[in-house]
Amino acid sequence: MKVSFVKSAIDESHYPAPDRLEVAFMGRSNVGKSSLINALANRKKLARTGSTPGRTQMINFFAVGSRLYLVDLPGYGFARVPVKVKDSWGRMVEKYLINRPTLKAAVVILDIRRDPAEGDKDLLGRLKRYGIHSIIVLTKADKLSRQKSRRRAGLIGKELEGISHERPLVFSARTGEGRDEIWEKIQEILGIP
Ligand code: GTP
Ligand code: MG
Repeated sequence: MKVSFVKSAIDESHYPAPDRLEVAFMGRSNVGKSSLINALANRKKLARTGSTPGRTQMINFFAVGSRLYLVDLPGYGFARVPVKVKDSWGRMVEKYLINRPTLKAAVVILDIRRDPAEGDKDLLGRLKRYGIHSIIVLTKADKLSRQKSRRRAGLIGKELEGISHERPLVFSARTGEGRDEIWEKIQEILGIP
């Protein structure tokens, strides 16, 4: 399926028309949101990635064929960003979550090596309240042995039981592990073939 960049937006007036289903990619700064979108799209440089947190600064819409948008969002929880900037980011993302009727699911990305932070739990709680189905993806699995990633997935899944809708999926942008499973889950939740 062909995935292409549509536009970047800061506020509602710049979003593309809500004429199809949408899934958002969310998580801490630098966790690997844009890399996951690139892996799903089978493209290396569709969404901009980088080793410094704060790479993605606007809401970026990508079209999958003519029936779905993937949305890359700026990350949260990066301490070195000035408070003022952090606030405007928070407002931008919050407004998007509230004002987007076609946003049915969000992929919440966590580093498999780290315990979920307050920001992650807060986000999962908000998604639940807004009726947006969350899918947790544990990324950077290439950094751990298979056995260790399974153990981390079990522990994190247990910790987030109740605030998330699904068991976490294990993923690596380096090896492509978990990619197909994530696509299947998105299609299942949105009810698209
Ligand atoms: P912001 O837009 O700044 O919030 O970051 P992001 O969450 O979009 O992260 P991005 O995809 O830009 O990746 C951040 C860094 O992590 C880059 O250096 C990536 O190469 C690296 N990275 C992302 N996914 C993986 C992965 O699965 N394994 C490994 N080893 N590195 C990864
Ligand atoms: Mg990014």
